[in-house]
Amino acid sequence: MSTPISRSGRFAAGPDAAVQRYSESISFDWRLYPQDIAGSIAHATMLAKTGIITRRERDRIIKGLQIILREIARGQFRWKMELEDVHMNIESALTRRVPAAAKLHTGRSRNDQVATDLRLWVRDQSAALDKGLKNLQQSLLKLAARAKRRGSRDFLPIPGYTHLQRAQPVLAAHHLLAYVEMLARDRSRFRDAVQRANVCPLGAGALAGSSLPLDRRMTARLLEFREPMANSMDAVSDRDFVAEFLFVAALAGIHLSRLAEDLILWSSAEFAFIRIGDSHTTGSSLMPQKKNPDVAELGRGKSGRLIGNLTTLLTMLKGLPMTYNRDLQEDKPPLFDSAGTLRSTLEVFAGMLDATCFNPEACLRAVQDPNLLATELADHLVKRGLPFRKAHHLVGAAVQLAEQQDKTLLDLTRGEWKKVHPGLTDAARILRLDNALETRNRLFGAPGPRQVEAQLQRWKKLLRRVSGE
Ligand code: ARG
Repeated sequence: MSTPISRSGRFAAGPDAAVQRYSESISFDWRLYPQDIAGSIAHATMLAKTGIITRRERDRIIKGLQIILREIARGQFRWKMELEDVHMNIESALTRRVPAAAKLHTGRSRNDQVATDLRLWVRDQSAALDKGLKNLQQSLLKLAARAKRRGSRDFLPIPGYTHLQRAQPVLAAHHLLAYVEMLARDRSRFRDAVQRANVCPLGAGALAGSSLPLDRRMTARLLEFREPMANSMDAVSDRDFVAEFLFVAALAGIHLSRLAEDLILWSSAEFAFIRIGDSHTTGSSLMPQKKNPDVAELGRGKSGRLIGNLTTLLTMLKGLPMTYNRDLQEDKPPLFDSAGTLRSTLEVFAGMLDATCFNPEACLRAVQDPNLLATELADHLVKRGLPFRKAHHLVGAAVQLAEQQDKTLLDLTRGEWKKVHPGLTDAARILRLDNALETRNRLFGAPGPRQVEAQLQRWKKLLRRVSGE
């Protein structure tokens, strides 16, 4: 059994077996190996530059680390639980092969080491999640472009809802583009969070820096951090960047959950606006007719984990005295879980949207509801000089009049309209779906076909760019 490096001199006995199992982190922090090795290579390079180790020692250390990196990537490396974490597993394997590696930990503590690894990992994951978010935006955009009337190039109208009650007509593409906007904000939040995360703790040591002539600017530069962190105590104990990452992931998860909810509703027989393909639905073991939107439901459910992970981290941090405390090891499971959960959700949701199509007949049936156009009548009266409150009241009375006779607004006679208000005698002309949509062609951000087409083109262009928006 190998002795953990951190216990080598001070302790007479090894740790209790249950304690070892309790405190190990290698079962999850092995994921940090590329970042840990990159950090060690930068550190060794700096140690040689400042004359703390020789160039030969540096070269041997770096070569050894590169071999270990390849072994781990190929699954040929044996992780040992008794070596506790990724840092000690790698260093111990290296020291066994390269005697000079005993000098690698000079001027470094696992406290600044793990903080560095984690910042690098968050940076890498944010880039991967940005790709996933962009990919989902593209799928939303493609579905929006496909949301057309059957055999036509005209956008497909659907009812827009408030309080889940039919409100006003919109275009299905407009509805989907709302999610493209949300995901764009998620992407910008990740970018913004990385800005603050991208500073280097290396050289902060356990908490109080080092008496050795380290070059912190050099390691920061080698690892492509913006700069070294300015306070060694802050450097080893700050996990704001983990909290920010988890918040951004949770909010993105909530956006996906809301999208999931729309898709679940839309795929029900009550709406029947969409069909989700067989590849992204499941059957029931009991009811032969069922086709269930399980993928969307799981995405909605997993957003709970993302919120939970943020709460776990914030709760863990809140009572910690300065500086490093072992509690901080508990930052990793929620971080890894949120990154993985969000990545896989983004991936399957993109596939699900690609396998989804609209059912134009059902959408058109729903959007024919004349009540959706009541606001158009009120606006019509406003154009004739009535105050909106008054117009709203009059049209409301017309809705009631129709309801009392079990009719729709379209069934009211000219005479009845005239009685409500002479300005509404030609209500039938206003009560046209196309009219409601066309009159929204000029207002920026409104669901008129021309506005929606312009937004669609804008997003196409933005998402074509390498970095996106
Ligand atoms: N596995 C530890 C963590 O994740 C590494 C740092 C340990 N440092 C210490 N002083 N025990 O936080």
